[in-house]
Amino acid sequence: MSTSKNIFKKITTQKLREMKAIGEKISMLTAYDYSMAKILDRAGIDILLVGDSASNVMAGNETTLPITLDHMIWHAQAVVKAVDRALVVVDVPFGSYQGNSSEALRSSIRIMKESGAHAVKMEGGIEIKESVERVINAGIPVMGHLGLTPQSIYKFGTYAVRAKDSDEAKKLLNDAVLLQELGCFSIVLEKIPALLGKQVAEHLHIPLIGIGAGSHVDGQVLVVHDMLGITQDFKPRFLRSYADLNGIITEAVGHYIRDVKSEDFPNNKNESY
Ligand code: KIV
Repeated sequence: MSTSKNIFKKITTQKLREMKAIGEKISMLTAYDYSMAKILDRAGIDILLVGDSASNVMAGNETTLPITLDHMIWHAQAVVKAVDRALVVVDVPFGSYQGNSSEALRSSIRIMKESGAHAVKMEGGIEIKESVERVINAGIPVMGHLGLTPQSIYKFGTYAVRAKDSDEAKKLLNDAVLLQELGCFSIVLEKIPALLGKQVAEHLHIPLIGIGAGSHVDGQVLVVHDMLGITQDFKPRFLRSYADLNGIITEAVGHYIRDVKSEDFPNNKNESY
């Protein structure tokens, strides 16, 4: 049962602003498929992110770089079909918007048209200014993403906390202000010092969603497979584990295997036809 007040029937970008205004924190999780999206939507989640983390979680890749626009649209179509209430945001994948605003627009239009999603997310600040501007001018809501931006992992060389030094912190703050001025409806802040998260929150009026960015932002996002304990080998400090689905599934499957081997399954209760 959700503890969210759920006073907002269908979540829109306007509703997110209203939530921020009344101090209701925004909940966001990733979703990549119909069945999980249905559970999360019914539980009352506010935003579902069809994240390019599908590349890691669904396809077993080491980074988010290999996932394609076609893959993202396929996942987004499944999620959109399941959702009645949540706002569905889709990551524009690596290589389909950086350095080319026409391509950014084409990719974002494809996501919106072919999946029925409600918004897109892009990683970066000043470097992708033209792309963000062009997509927003076309009427597509854009969520920004600053701090640790996994599509640039080979530039960073590490998944460590970003913006610990003052130059990078200053750039991040300037980028956040720029994204707001360009018209982004929200920004994800990933893996930055909590104090910097607080400073950004003090400068901006759009909702900020944190993942490892402290508690002074307007909402939180996690990868659903991490918080449900399906993934086993990823335990960063910012993660809270809410279930051990890996253990539960392993036990259930072990039980099933034993029943099949021992010929306990199927029994006469399962043989009605
Ligand atoms: O792809 C993703 O899962 C994300 C979240 C970590 C914010 O971008």
